[in-house]
Amino acid sequence: MKNLLVTGGCGFIGANFIRYLLFDSNFSGRVINVDKLTYAGNPENLEGIEEKYTGRYYFVKGDICDAETMGGVFKKYEIDTICHFAAESHVDRSILKPDTFIKTNIEGTFNLLELARFHKDRVVLFHHVSTDEVFGSLGQDGYFTEETPYDPSSPYSASKAASDHLVRAYSRTYGLPITISNCSNNYGPYQFPEKLIPLMLLNALDGKPLPVYGDGKNVRDWLYVKDHCKAVWVIMKKGKRGQTYNIGGNCEMYNIDVVNKLCDVLDAIKPSESGGSRRDLITFVKDRPGHDLRYAMDFSKLENELGWRPDESFETGIEKTIKWYIDNKGWVERVKSGEYLKWIDQQYE
Ligand code: NAD
Ligand code: DAU
Repeated sequence: MKNLLVTGGCGFIGANFIRYLLFDSNFSGRVINVDKLTYAGNPENLEGIEEKYTGRYYFVKGDICDAETMGGVFKKYEIDTICHFAAESHVDRSILKPDTFIKTNIEGTFNLLELARFHKDRVVLFHHVSTDEVFGSLGQDGYFTEETPYDPSSPYSASKAASDHLVRAYSRTYGLPITISNCSNNYGPYQFPEKLIPLMLLNALDGKPLPVYGDGKNVRDWLYVKDHCKAVWVIMKKGKRGQTYNIGGNCEMYNIDVVNKLCDVLDAIKPSESGGSRRDLITFVKDRPGHDLRYAMDFSKLENELGWRPDESFETGIEKTIKWYIDNKGWVERVKSGEYLKWIDQQYE
């Protein structure tokens, strides 16, 4: 692995992954980050990296669906490894407007697979980053394993399921060296405030309502983003080619408990001006259509075969996350105001 293409590196997990690779891992090759810079892609997530890692880090503003641009990237940078994060990632948006999900998540992945196939003599790994949502919903008991049949509920999860199938098919049909990871809900620094945790956090800081869908009894399995990054890197280095690995946090929580916890930690670290509890801001709203009841990951394969376990508990991870959002007011304000979108226009258009 010398020339690693990271797609979607300006998004939440992609940016954390590139930071992890360059700051903390033993990777010594070049990172080529291709990102379309949609509303979710923010170059500020990697501020200073290009200057600090000249000759090791490159950014290309590009669309993974664009065969010409991506072909040029494969050729120019002699890409031999792909770690594919780029996607439309938000379930609610996929319900309102599914078309970009089909385009980017399915056609974009297909385009990258075709390029990897074309450069098969050089490509040593295509790692595909996917989600536990492909498995659909669990009832009150049980866990998703790597053998759980796919049963996606939303346009987002259906598009991710389709992309997983394509990646697996390229391994079986063309012998492309692939690995796939299916991960549970991430949280941590640089997450766009449309997802549950940063949305609630920023609303609570602003004294705005905290909209909990349905009765708040849906369960998610939470994982601190750096633990996800470490898992992806372990799989890329040591995972068996052709295999899928589940990644989870061993941290099932009702949504309402997550929101209560956020309110309590915030009240302790940064009491509201009125002195009241942030829990008073919680508002139960109409449920999400097709809302999966419960996700829980069995990641024993990853643990037993590759020795990965999450380092952070929800307690430690959420405290770090809350502090990060409080300490990075500039980032928060620019993201909320759309300032960074204007900045992108000036830089790249
Ligand atoms: P995100 O929405 O924060 O970032 C996605 C990034 O992809 C953005 O930088 C965006 O600009 C870029 N992008 C979108 N369309 C593109 C295109 N056509 N070409 C190039 N770049 C494009 O998403 P995230 O939360 O960081 O998720 C990253 C990956 O991890 C996704 O594949 C997602 O399905 C998967 N995943 C996410 C979670 C989670 O909890 N967030 C959990 C499991 C798996
Ligand atoms: O499980 C992995 C998936 O986690 C990833 O594949 C997705 O990319 C990522 O967006 C996330 O999907 P979810 O739909 O689980 O995440 P979200 O943050 O949107 O919602 C988490 C839970 O909180 C879910 O049960 C819906 C609920 N929710 C969400 C929002 C935004 C609310 O109750 N209120 C809200 O305002």
